Amino acid sequence: MSDRSLLSIDDLDVAGIREIVELSDAFEEVLRRPIPKVPALRGRTVANVFFEDSTRTRLSFEIAAKRLSADTVNFTASGSSLSKGESLFDTIRTLHAMGVDAFVVRHRAPGAARRVDGWVDTPVINAGDGAHEHPTQALLDLVTVHRRRGDVEGLRCVMVGDIEHSRVARSTIGAFTMMGMHVSVAAPATLLPTGIDDWPVDVVEDLDTALEKADVVYMLRMQKERIARDPVLPSLREYVARYGLTAERARRLPPEVVLMHPGPMNRGVEIAPEATEHPGAAIEEQVRNGVTVRMAVLYLALGGMP
Ligand code: CP
Repeated sequence: MSDRSLLSIDDLDVAGIREIVELSDAFEEVLRRPIPKVPALRGRTVANVFFEDSTRTRLSFEIAAKRLSADTVNFTASGSSLSKGESLFDTIRTLHAMGVDAFVVRHRAPGAARRVDGWVDTPVINAGDGAHEHPTQALLDLVTVHRRRGDVEGLRCVMVGDIEHSRVARSTIGAFTMMGMHVSVAAPATLLPTGIDDWPVDVVEDLDTALEKADVVYMLRMQKERIARDPVLPSLREYVARYGLTAERARRLPPEVVLMHPGPMNRGVEIAPEATEHPGAAIEEQVRNGVTVRMAVLYLALGGMP
């Protein structure tokens, strides 16, 4: 167990989040250099241990580690000795025995990163555990709003879609509200979690009314792979009509609205292809900011120069 691990957005307080935002801004300058690299983590080894698929998170952690001159090793479930029955515990202890300095862990089971943290004395960063948490996504979302709008306090975010299955919703709502933003959620009742009344959000019935007052519109991915196990929608067409960011809804949004999506997108379901061309769309900025945020998180986890 390490006190430098990042398992949940609640591991951070306002000062901790501000430190990551400021460090992320400093690393943005590094990325603009002709050789976008600093020797901060030279000699350290970061293991990206992904038991569930990923494009953005896995690659941006790898790029972030390389920009800080760390060595990286990448473990994915496919092609590993998991197929021979090796357990999560033995897999982690095997990598630990090889001299890894930090673990970045994604797993489909809620709480998996915390379990890993209990088995090793090196920092563990949660890169997404089931429908539970995705703290570095929350941080890159916050950095994206901050870079677009400056001070985030008092901004109004409308988050739309599959809240129930979304680790992004849990972590990003935590980060946004901790920093003084107001969050409303819009979703069919079957895609709202039990206990939503205890979350620091308003539940809105009518998306179009909510969009009129929004500074930030956050569309969530319809998690078809999780929903396939538990059908919750009578009709996808009806869902798109009531909760999708259609081309028509996007046309009504002012240009200064920050339009976000964590990716991967289901174009034509939660977001129309035309909506991604809105001047406020920050979806690729979120991806870019993921690199500097993960540089900041790795730098703080590993304490800079050895
Ligand atoms: N946003 C996000 O976590 O994307 P990936 O699943 O591609 O990492």
